[in-house]
Amino acid sequence: MNEVKWTNDLSVDVELIDDQHKMLIEHLNNFAKAVEQHQGPTEIASTLSFLIDYTDFHFSMEEREMKAHNYPAYDTHKAKHEEFKTILVYMESEFRDDGPTAILAESIDTLLVSWLVKHIRVVDVEFGMFLKDRGIAISEEG
Ligand SMILES: [Fe+2]
Repeated sequence: MNEVKWTNDLSVDVELIDDQHKMLIEHLNNFAKAVEQHQGPTEIASTLSFLIDYTDFHFSMEEREMKAHNYPAYDTHKAKHEEFKTILVYMESEFRDDGPTAILAESIDTLLVSWLVKHIRVVDVEFGMFLKDRGIAISEEG
């Protein structure tokens, strides 16, 4: 698989969001690598659970800030997040049932990686522009 790399073209121009996206991508790469290298079930399960936890943490931060600033596209943005979380739950059950199969490795690429890159480029960039236009600064504490 091709490791995803955070590069400037993935920037949403909001430092906190960019920093969290870098972490999210790192967790995604760790999970993908663990599956691809057929690491032990405990190792794979733990990279996946880190990814799930960090995803929840990051999405919650974005959703909290969207709500706090009456972001008009809150509902559709949140629905996208739910979509990604559903894919993660699906992966977790696939892995539990069948282990680190080639199909699982491939679906990490086709489902998770491409989803995330597109989401950042389109949906998160829009939110970043909203924040910048209004001069809103966000922080980890909310
Ligand atoms: Fe988002």
